Amino acid sequence: MEKGKKVVTLAYGCQMSERDAETLTEITRQAGYTSSAELESADLVIVNTCCVRESAENKILGKIGELKKLKDNNPNLKIAISGCMVQQPGALERLRKRAPHVDIWAGTHNLHEFAVLLEKAERGVKVAEVWQEPKKILESTPLAERGKLQANVNIMYGCDNFCSYCIVPHVRGRERSRKPEEIVQEIKDLVTGGCREITLLGQNVNSYGKEFSPAYDFADLLRDVDQIPLLSRIRFITSHPKDLSDKLIETVAQGGKLCEHFHLPIQSGSNLILERMNRKYSREYYLSRVRKIRELLPLATLTTDIIVGFPGESEEDFEQTLAVMNLVHYSQAFTFMYSKRSGTLAADMEDQIPLDVKKRRLQRLMSVQNQKSLEWRQQMIGKVYEVLVEGPSKTNPERLNGRTRGNELVVFSGGSEIIGSLVNVRILEAGSWTLLGDIESL
Ligand code: 5AD
Ligand code: SF4
Repeated sequence: MEKGKKVVTLAYGCQMSERDAETLTEITRQAGYTSSAELESADLVIVNTCCVRESAENKILGKIGELKKLKDNNPNLKIAISGCMVQQPGALERLRKRAPHVDIWAGTHNLHEFAVLLEKAERGVKVAEVWQEPKKILESTPLAERGKLQANVNIMYGCDNFCSYCIVPHVRGRERSRKPEEIVQEIKDLVTGGCREITLLGQNVNSYGKEFSPAYDFADLLRDVDQIPLLSRIRFITSHPKDLSDKLIETVAQGGKLCEHFHLPIQSGSNLILERMNRKYSREYYLSRVRKIRELLPLATLTTDIIVGFPGESEEDFEQTLAVMNLVHYSQAFTFMYSKRSGTLAADMEDQIPLDVKKRRLQRLMSVQNQKSLEWRQQMIGKVYEVLVEGPSKTNPERLNGRTRGNELVVFSGGSEIIGSLVNVRILEAGSWTLLGDIESL
């Protein structure tokens, strides 16, 4: 095997995509590659793609175009395109025509085969493998990267919800839960390698284990993961509001390592739009879940996802979304313009909203949320929070940064010896996105 080859892996999209990119990088490491960030000297470039919105796809298509120039300069370069964009029905044929310089195409269900595809590509054979269905959960695929303070751990794959705007169930298949003992073992191994914070990943973690008999649900999993020694923090994303049980909220309220942060995408504050989105909850039900969280966990942080300009959204519907922001006090909201995804139900709906209206609504939503995020952080001033020290601040390397249990970013002074530990930080100043503070005690 030839040694010293370099791989650059680019991941687009959500944490699951990042996690898949880690798996691919690990497979290439086992095949003799070392990971690098320099495209110019790379022997292999992997682009793990996202197709949740058209804007992501356009960005990725631009990047694939740029890679052509790189390959013109270095004909030995191999290019692999993997993940959600490749998995869309009919996409492979279109992409192959558009980018004949690509050596490997791999769908979301074929990542475990990447070593075989790579070996063929190294022999100069162009390959494409896109299964329409996942065969089973493949526990033998490489797990999360070792030696990092924080790691993402898949607890399940796929989604059964079919929100009418969303391509994810079409490219990631039906829900499959990993066995609890496999997850716990993976986390124990990560902790042995130095990991202190894990984020459990699933499109809808609240439906984890629904196929298990005897019954074992997400709250049970959290309790078991909470027992793992030396682990400092457990986070989880994403919680579908329709499945957020009292048991789960009560489990998080028991404290320990379970961080009191709920990412609870509302998508819209209008019942009419929620119905058309096939979200299966009403605004009232959503708000009742928020009340339950606030009742048991008054200091819990809430974040959300919101789409503006879904087909048929009137000014009145949009106003209702703005009204929810004032009621809930999110610490952060990820806001998107609706993007038509071919193959989804919403793509064929009438009353698509013009781009200029979508843009205007997004601007308004973002300025309301910026103010709300600032207010949320301002009420933290003067209080003391537990912070996991992550490393030097990106904006000021003289200082350190870390996150509260609620996932708020805090910048403070301190020596590099405390990286990886938990410290108490008193908040002194607040902006919309960051907090400034001082360490109180170690
Ligand atoms: N258009 C815009 N936003 C979308 N999302 C998912 N599909 C679309 C789409 N077609 C958003 C949702 C989801 C987040 C991950 O991406 O808000 O929660
Ligand atoms: Fe998409 Fe809805 Fe599934 Fe989330 S729950 S991945 S928005 S279909």
